[in-house]
Amino acid sequence: FSLRDLNTFGIDARASHYVRISATAQLAAVLANPALAGLPRLVLGGGSNLLLTGNFDGLVLHMASSGRAVVGETGEHVLVRAQAGENWHGFVEWTLAQGLGGLENLALIPGTVGAAPIQNIGAYGLETKDVFHSLTVFDPATGALATFDGAACRFAYRDSVFKHEAGRGLVIVDVTFALPRMWRPNLRYAELANEVAAMGTAEPTARQVADAVIAIRRRKLPDPAVIGNAGSFFKNPVVGAAQCAALLEKFPNLVHHRQDDGTEKLAAGWLIDQCGWKGKSLGAAGVYPKQALVLVNNGGATGADVRRLAEAIQADVRERYGVLLEPEPVFI
Ligand code: EPU
Repeated sequence: FSLRDLNTFGIDARASHYVRISATAQLAAVLANPALAGLPRLVLGGGSNLLLTGNFDGLVLHMASSGRAVVGETGEHVLVRAQAGENWHGFVEWTLAQGLGGLENLALIPGTVGAAPIQNIGAYGLETKDVFHSLTVFDPATGALATFDGAACRFAYRDSVFKHEAGRGLVIVDVTFALPRMWRPNLRYAELANEVAAMGTAEPTARQVADAVIAIRRRKLPDPAVIGNAGSFFKNPVVGAAQCAALLEKFPNLVHHRQDDGTEKLAAGWLIDQCGWKGKSLGAAGVYPKQALVLVNNGGATGADVRRLAEAIQADVRERYGVLLEPEPVFI
């Protein structure tokens, strides 16, 4: 079964077994099948955060469940739930159409609702964890469903329990978000504030903030439907205050953002750009000319091509800055 149309890098790898899951009950049935239960498993959503480095000898569970609804209210929030297979941006648009703000800073992020908590997707000053209420997981080991709150998900920057041993086998089946009843724009990210200001509205609506986010993303990030990519290929590295100070002495223009705990987050895109990689290619894999943090498939790239390019970039950044860039997508 070709996975080419199921990963946004557009890499033509194959899976030996594939099942499309359109309802939660199907999961238990599939995993009760002895011919499938023992196989290595890959749970796939929109395929927007993975790099297929070869064929997958195992079972792909393609989460394609749909449904979204307002499910309740708390004092300050409206609770909205979507099934794992819902397209993320479609869900954001749906909440806006219901008159609910809160997700607009995360507009146009590729992928599905079920994948959003796994890497705690974030952009323009907002992360999933900030608007998260709870989620439901299916545990293939027991066949049982369980509810996780935010603490149980152990969210961190581009990270959660689902990327670690304790949560890796769990299948997210739906996610519930708590959206504020009293909405206010989150314009902490300077680039977004500038974009909104340029629209000439002093008091933007959630819709207008979403449009500003969409405009920025369209300008800077490649559309996976046109150029294969998985968004940021590396996480922004976090270094100690002392290391950052030492780097600033040598590189006064270093882009850095102080974190609440005193550490400093560096801009991986800037580091890669400074190493001269922006717009460069290695074989069929390349660095996007408008944002050095995004690696792209220029046509016919294999996972190995992308990995080779990623490793060359890592080596250069380490040599020049002494910083290790960690990939953001999962390597399969
Ligand atoms: N920069 C360069 N050259 C480049 C790219 C960036 O000098 O080629 C500099 C920019 O000038 C800026 C800084 O690096 O000073 C940061 O760039 P930007 O604002 O574009 O954001 P980012 O840190 O590169 C992160 C997320 C994005 C998210 C944006 C907006 C990570 C790994 N990436 O990118 O997330 O959309 O902020 O919040 O945290 C994704 O995860 O797939 C993704 C696109």
